[in-house]
Amino acid sequence: MSTIDPKEFRNVLGHFPTGVTIVTGMDGEEPAGLTIGSFTSVSLDPPMVGFLPGKGSSTWEAIQKSGSFCVNVLGDHQADECWTFAKPAEGSRFDGLAWHAESTGSPVIDGSLAWIDCSINEVYEMGDHLFVLGDVVSLAGNDGDPLLFFKGGLGTFAAS
Ligand SMILES: Cc1cc2nc3c(=O)[nH]c(=O)nc-3n(C[C@H](O)[C@H](O)[C@H](O)COP(=O)(O)O)c2cc1C
Repeated sequence: MSTIDPKEFRNVLGHFPTGVTIVTGMDGEEPAGLTIGSFTSVSLDPPMVGFLPGKGSSTWEAIQKSGSFCVNVLGDHQADECWTFAKPAEGSRFDGLAWHAESTGSPVIDGSLAWIDCSINEVYEMGDHLFVLGDVVSLAGNDGDPLLFFKGGLGTFAAS
């Protein structure tokens, strides 16, 4: 049994700033996606990336069946998308959003700062989350400033 209080855990870990991504994939014929901050580069050779969705994520469960996913790195003009993809939607989270497919067929959200299209290499169980390891199939970056998450709020990068 851990003696770490979950509230304290969240609060302290909130001091670590992250970028914001939307991990997308196809749920049958429909685009699906969820907001993810736990994205990381894993390996350069071979090129691999990873992220950690909660074990209870119904969106990830649907995407996993397709065998691939795309990480969309959000720019500072995409704060609305960050929140839309982090809560239940009445219709689709993609309503009103422009996207297209690249190599794997997973949605690339138009206007994102970067996208990394991947096939699923392995999914590992880790506590109450999964670690999804992806093989990078294709990727691209665009000009712009990033959306950053810190202590529960959104901002952008300022050089010091
Ligand atoms: C900035 C930000 C980062 C997030 N990062 C993660 C994450 O890394 N892993 C995770 O499981 N949920 C994360 N979430 C929460 C999910 O986006 C949220 O639980 C979402 O509802 C999951 O989609 P689903 O319920 O359709 O499966 C994050 C939310 C925000 C706002």
